[in-house]
Amino acid sequence: MNTPIKVALIYGSTREGRFCDTVANWTANEIWRRNDFSLDLIDPAELDLPPRHGGSDHPALAGFRRRLGDADAFIIVTPEYNHGYPAPLKFLIDSAYREWQAKPVAFVSYGGLSGGLRAVEQLRAVFAELHAVTVRDTVSFANAWSKFDADGHLLEPDEPRKAMATLLAHLRWWAQVLRDARHAAPYGEVAA
Ligand SMILES: Cc1cc2nc3c(=O)[nH]c(=O)nc-3n(C[C@H](O)[C@H](O)[C@H](O)COP(=O)(O)O)c2cc1C
Repeated sequence: MNTPIKVALIYGSTREGRFCDTVANWTANEIWRRNDFSLDLIDPAELDLPPRHGGSDHPALAGFRRRLGDADAFIIVTPEYNHGYPAPLKFLIDSAYREWQAKPVAFVSYGGLSGGLRAVEQLRAVFAELHAVTVRDTVSFANAWSKFDADGHLLEPDEPRKAMATLLAHLRWWAQVLRDARHAAPYGEVAA
């Protein structure tokens, strides 16, 4: 139970001037304060991705899949775009398959009134198709711009930090249990 859980934190937005950096930095800092997780930050804006699907041996995608494959668990930091989630995030999700399987996915979301929760609900359906397990508890920032100061610190940190602790506790439980289970019986070999 003492081996750190390897978490890949995935940025949902590549928008110029994005707020994603603020929320992802806060999330990463919450994880770095602990000693039970290691963290890989995966930012699609830095991956030099191909413009379209098809080249599965493209080096950026091969590297991305390797990093997913190394992870025990995922945290998606996503805004809400038109009641959904951003296209670059979908491109990343669809660029892998087995690497997602039998692993937990948790969400930190942000946006206007809904705090990005409509994007999260869509992502739950997508990850079900990929045989991943989504964690019920989320951290969500409604009107996110009003919650952080110019240095990226939360003005009222107590509630979000409590929510993040709950998210991480459940993510850790699933990650540990599923890591052991994958080792005992590879998920790809499950048959009727
Ligand atoms: C194309 C677009 C659509 C948006 N649609 C929504 C929306 O449906 N609901 C919402 O709460 N916020 C919406 N917003 C506001 C975003 O959640 C907000 O701008 C957020 O900062 C975007 O994340 P980013 O800055 O990291 O790209 C939208 C923003 C953009 C750019």
